[in-house]
Amino acid sequence: MVTTTAQINYEVKDLELATQGTQRIEWAAREMPVLRQIRQRFSKERPLAGIRIAACCHITTETANLAITLKAGGADSLLIASNPLSTQDDVAAALVRDHGIPVFALRGEDTATYLKHVNIALDHRPQVIVDDGSDVVATLIKQRSGQISELIGTTEETTTGIVRLKAMLAAGVLTFPAVAVNDAETKHFFDNRYGTGQSTLDGIIRATNILLAGKNIVVAGYGWCGKGTAQRARGMGANVIVTEINPVAAIEAVMDGFRVMPMTEAAKIGDIFITVTGNKHVIRREHFVTMKDGAIVCNSGHFDIEIDLVALSELSSEKRSVRPFTQEYVLEGKSIIVLGEGRLINLAAAEGHPASVMDMSFANQALAVEYLVKNKGKLTPAIYNIPVEIDREIARLKLEAMAIYIDELTPEQIHYMGSWDEGTE
Ligand code: ADE
Repeated sequence: MVTTTAQINYEVKDLELATQGTQRIEWAAREMPVLRQIRQRFSKERPLAGIRIAACCHITTETANLAITLKAGGADSLLIASNPLSTQDDVAAALVRDHGIPVFALRGEDTATYLKHVNIALDHRPQVIVDDGSDVVATLIKQRSGQISELIGTTEETTTGIVRLKAMLAAGVLTFPAVAVNDAETKHFFDNRYGTGQSTLDGIIRATNILLAGKNIVVAGYGWCGKGTAQRARGMGANVIVTEINPVAAIEAVMDGFRVMPMTEAAKIGDIFITVTGNKHVIRREHFVTMKDGAIVCNSGHFDIEIDLVALSELSSEKRSVRPFTQEYVLEGKSIIVLGEGRLINLAAAEGHPASVMDMSFANQALAVEYLVKNKGKLTPAIYNIPVEIDREIARLKLEAMAIYIDELTPEQIHYMGSWDEGTE
C-alpha cells in the first residue's frame, strides 16, 4: 500500500528497518570515493536543481549512494526496484526516512506490484529516466507516449537494456537521447567482469554453502559477465566449461584456457550451471533431461528468462524449498536444484556487486545524468556513449583514491603518437 509521510509518498516494507539501512549505506559509501567526490561537487554546483528523475534500479546500499548523490545535485528523484528479489528493505526504508527520497520497492514484490511501481515512476513525470533493463522506457513508449516530450533523456545501466534500446532505435520508437552507461569502459570492464564474477559466486555460496573446488561449473555466455564468472570460478578451483554462440567469444574462452562445448554436451557433465547470456531459454527441456542428479542451476543475467523453468516444472513431479533461495525439482530418478527462482543470483541470494565497482558504475550514472541535463535540447534521438573524457576522469579519480599513480606521456611521446613519418629508417 502506498503510504504518505508529511512530505512524500512511498511503499517500503517497514520504516523501522531504516537505522540498519543507514548503517549499511554508510558502510558502502566508504568504498565509493569517486561518487563521494561527485556528491561534494554536486552539493556546491547543484547541476540537477529541480530536475525530476525516475530511477529503476536494484535497491541496494550502492544505489542508495547514487540516489543521495543525485539529491545532492538538486534532483527530485523517485526510486523503484528493477527486480523483485534484489530489494534490500532496510535500504529502501533508510532512503525514505533518513533522506526523504520516495521509494517504491518491496523485496519479493509480484509482477502486478512491479508494474504498478513502473507507473508510479512515470506519474512522477520524469525529465530523466535512470533505467536498469529498459522497462520504464519501454512502458513510456508503449503506454504513456504523451509524456515523451517532457523527457530530456534516459541512461541505461545494463547490456540487456542497451540491446533493447538499440531495437527501439531500429524500430523508430526511440525519439529521445539515451546514454549507454554500460558501455563506458569504467563500467563494464569492472562491474560486469569483477562485480558479476565475485557476486555470482557469493550468491551461489550463500544459497548452498557448497564447495566449488573440483566441481564442473558451466558458464553460459562469455561476454564481460561470463568472463568474470568463469575467471573467478577457476580461481575457486572449479573445472570451468564455457558455452557460447559467438565463434569469436568461443575462441577467446578456449585461449583463456577454458573447455568450450555445446550446452547439450555440457548438460551431461556440469555440477553447477550459471547463465549470463542475456538471451532466453539457454537451459531448456533437452538439457534438463540429461543433467546429473543434484545439478545446480542458476542465472546471473538481467531477466529471469535464461532458464526455462516452465519446462522444468513440466518435467517435475514435485518442487520444494530446501534452503532459502534454493528449490529442489524432483524428476524421474533425480532432482535438479534451482537457485533464486532463476533471477539474478548475485542480487537474490547475495548483495549484488560490491561497492567498489558500483562506485565507478554509479559515477558514470551521475555524470551521464548531468551530461543529459547540461545538453538539454541539443542531443538528437540516439544512443550516446559516455564521453571518453568522463570515462578517463572516473578511472583517474579511482586510482587516486587507491593511491596508485601512473606515468604521463613525455612531449616526445605525444609528438610520436600524432605522427606518421617515423617508421623503419
Ligand atoms: N547491479 C549489480 N550489483 C548491484 C548493486 N550492488 N547495486 C545496484 N545495482 C547492481
